[in-house]
Amino acid sequence: MQSQLVPNLPSIQIATDVCAGLNQPQQKQLPSKYLYDAVGSALFEVICALPEYGLTRAEERILRQHANEIVDQLPRPVVVAELGSGTGRKTRLLLEALSRWQSTWYHPIEISPTALAELRRELRDINSVSVVGFEREYLDGLREAAARRVQGEHLLVLFLGSTLGNFDGDAGAEFLRVLRTILQPGDSLLLGTDLIKPVNVLIPAYDDSLGVTAAFNRNLLARINRELRADFDLSQFEHVALFNKELQSVEMHLRSRTRQTVTIPDSAVSFHFEPQETIWTESSHKYSQEELVRLAHHSGFTPRSQWVEPSWGFAENLWIAA
Ligand code: TRP
Repeated sequence: MQSQLVPNLPSIQIATDVCAGLNQPQQKQLPSKYLYDAVGSALFEVICALPEYGLTRAEERILRQHANEIVDQLPRPVVVAELGSGTGRKTRLLLEALSRWQSTWYHPIEISPTALAELRRELRDINSVSVVGFEREYLDGLREAAARRVQGEHLLVLFLGSTLGNFDGDAGAEFLRVLRTILQPGDSLLLGTDLIKPVNVLIPAYDDSLGVTAAFNRNLLARINRELRADFDLSQFEHVALFNKELQSVEMHLRSRTRQTVTIPDSAVSFHFEPQETIWTESSHKYSQEELVRLAHHSGFTPRSQWVEPSWGFAENLWIAA
């Protein structure tokens, strides 16, 4: 395997984003992309192995059983780009299936340099795959990956793990619309989506008994302390997962146990918290079949095939750019 990395520039973006989020008058919030520093990415790997969090295993089962069938439906030759590749354990199944047909360029687009490094190790032994990774935001990275293809090559975009559900409200649909504009007709999107399921299954998936998800969420505050020299007292914030029925989403918050003030001296700002006041850090939307069909058409795709894992309730969707 050949591999290269296009690195990101260091940025002061985090300070700006944190201050903007904590200044929201109604509901304080923090961007979920900052959950994935080295500690956060490692904790997320553990989440994926937790008994309560069946999502990753369900998707892996689909890919293990159907990788050949999925690959058989793609136009070839195909270049693969993946949004938020993580460690690549799931991707490996698809790349191996593709290697029966062709040698493949694979472009992981991933904000976490640790995850990218891990991915490189994971895929090292697949000879027919050449990896060029982008440490970028999704759409910026996808534009760069799309620009590298040559005439006649089709693009397959992988967006697994139900990450689309982490965009709040209409932002997910809007994201797909913009994504579609980067593609050409006939390109494809393999989209992993967690399906609607009972609340008594969902809540433990996002608030596990070992407290790993709580640590993952609270690490966001620890990271802000580390990188911005803020003074969040971690013992005074607790992880909360609740189900928003109207939005069909699990919401993750960090709830202040007491009245307190947090200061970021480098930015010369402080933020006041009331007892029980929360910072909203992430939502995870759960999809219905009808919604997925609507979403595809609305964003300029034609649904081609779907594979469902019934015991957890997860769908892998293959859509073709119309
Ligand atoms: N895409 C994953 C999901 O929605 C991300 C995730 C899993 C997550 N567990 C989390 C995000 C806990 C924040 C907190 O399931």
